[in-house]
Amino acid sequence: MKNMRTGVIGVGHLGRFHAQKYAALSQFVGIFDQNAERAAEVAAELDCQAFSSVGALLAEVDAVSIVTPTSTHFAVAEAAMQAGVHCLVEKPFTLDTEEADTLIGMAQERHLVLAVGHIKRVHPAIQHLRQAGYGAPRYLEAERLAPFKPRSLDIDVIMDLMIHDLDLTLLLTGAEPVDVRAVGVAAVTDKADMANAWMTLNNGTVANLAASRVVREPARRMRIFWQDRYASVDFLNNTLHIYHRGAGSVPGIPGVRDEAVELPKRDALAAEIEDFLNAIVTHRPVFCDGIAGRRVLAAALQVRVAVEAFLQH
Ligand SMILES: NC(=O)c1ccc[n+]([C@@H]2O[C@H](COP(=O)([O-])OP(=O)(O)OC[C@H]3O[C@@H](n4cnc5c(N)ncnc54)[C@H](O)[C@@H]3O)[C@@H](O)[C@H]2O)c1
Repeated sequence: MKNMRTGVIGVGHLGRFHAQKYAALSQFVGIFDQNAERAAEVAAELDCQAFSSVGALLAEVDAVSIVTPTSTHFAVAEAAMQAGVHCLVEKPFTLDTEEADTLIGMAQERHLVLAVGHIKRVHPAIQHLRQAGYGAPRYLEAERLAPFKPRSLDIDVIMDLMIHDLDLTLLLTGAEPVDVRAVGVAAVTDKADMANAWMTLNNGTVANLAASRVVREPARRMRIFWQDRYASVDFLNNTLHIYHRGAGSVPGIPGVRDEAVELPKRDALAAEIEDFLNAIVTHRPVFCDGIAGRRVLAAALQVRVAVEAFLQH
């Protein structure tokens, strides 16, 4: 992995962190950002080259992260794969499923690793719950509420924030949404900045997901219910409690045991990039491939259709 020649395209808020991780994990060649001033700043910090064009960077690397705005993911990833470069594309994968299909096809034809940055998959709480073998939950509810930031305004809150919980819903259930109802409000931008979706999946699971990018108090929580237990994940505070029906008692609720799971502190972005680079070397499946990225994109687009119908009422 240390010999892998890597680069980052787009070194704004998140891309700078990608660059830092590659610098520690691989032979980090350099960056390209269309904002030359920003590129020079990050290149100076990491002592790497700021390339003058995307093509110049692609000619020198084996693998890149694409951390540009979503509206540019397709064009940049297409150029990278045409140059034979493995890609980790930030979420959301692309703007629509046609773009996603083209990139998935290119990766298959050219035997390239195509990963999508659904980073919550590597969260220790989610990994714990997947390994616990509880099966598909009956019901999930999530809140992902963030203060307003003038970034990712080329997309709505569904693609920006709710897509994380949609991804976890599909991952934990292995099912597809069949009935999606949603509401949303364009509070600050011209796109939905708050949304609430209620969906039934084809295995009977129900999910209720709320997202906002215009609140004062941030929250990132998910509650997951099975027949005999429920899990409460707080992504902000890195806690996981699992409440089991049976022996033991939580004060005031007889017959319920509270299991507070000790979660390791993990650098999620380093874990995600390490997994991507490992997949290139070992040919093992990547943590989130293009097909999984497309699957959650399609679900997010279903939510958007429902929100748009609501907004037009
Ligand atoms: N996985 C996550 O949790 C997560 C979190 C935040 C952002 N993101 C995603 O990361 C991406 C970037 O978000 P951000 O917050 O860093 O945005 P940002 O606006 O801070 O950075 C984007 C950078 O890309 C550059 N850029 C724009 N078009 C370009 C092009 N064609 N070629 C090269 N550089 C270009 C801009 O100059 C800017 O420096 C978005 O897709 C966003 O959805 C993912």
